[in-house]
Amino acid sequence: MTKIRVHNSESTFQEAVVTSIHSRILKKNREGKIFRLALSGGSTPVSLYEALSQLTDIDWSLVELYLVDERYVPLSDEKSNQGMIQKTLIERLQQKPAKFVFFDTAFSIQEALEKYQQELDSSDSPFFDLVLLGIGTDGHTASLFPGSAALKETKHWLAHTETKKNDIKDRLTMTYPALESAQEIFFLIRGHQKKSILDQVESSAKNNLKIPAARLFHRENAQVFFADL
Ligand code: 6PG
Repeated sequence: MTKIRVHNSESTFQEAVVTSIHSRILKKNREGKIFRLALSGGSTPVSLYEALSQLTDIDWSLVELYLVDERYVPLSDEKSNQGMIQKTLIERLQQKPAKFVFFDTAFSIQEALEKYQQELDSSDSPFFDLVLLGIGTDGHTASLFPGSAALKETKHWLAHTETKKNDIKDRLTMTYPALESAQEIFFLIRGHQKKSILDQVESSAKNNLKIPAARLFHRENAQVFFADL
């Protein structure tokens, strides 16, 4: 399977991503089964989530949405991933999804992690059908940053991480064990400025902790949609 599909236009990038997600959700809809979709934040997915919200043949009552990671800011903050997903996807749907599990930053970091974990514990077999990830120019994915202690987590599915590079220091994130429970992983990458880090990820060893995205990128069930714009 081609690992990296390069697109030279926004429209073909969006078409490829949305079609791939759409077909997977419809398959589980037809089987009457729940589809568990984990969503990243950031800027790349905004237009993709808006396009997903326009699809008219999905039974969203059979779709569970999970937030991959969050910046520890109030929901009202424009940097909130929960807020972005609510605005670009959930509020635009005619039918509400079965659930939307997010890190509730109205609580302390520890309480937000515990509340999210309770949601995971209440699922029968909480694995994800599909996880959507981005990559930062430093090689992070989700909120797993180079050098983070969370990169060594082998048991817990959720963690608090910190970053000095970005303006929001405290992050809440799924860890490798959670992300590796996915049946499939899509990396959604937009911008020629990401070509360099994508090349580094592609040529990196799988477990290179200096490039956290590498371990997930090199999984058999991961594919990359790259809009080289
Ligand atoms: C976040 C994301 C993060 C993102 C990358 C890429 O909270 O910012 O989850 O991992 O996917 O930083 O971000 P862009 O799509 O904005 O380039």
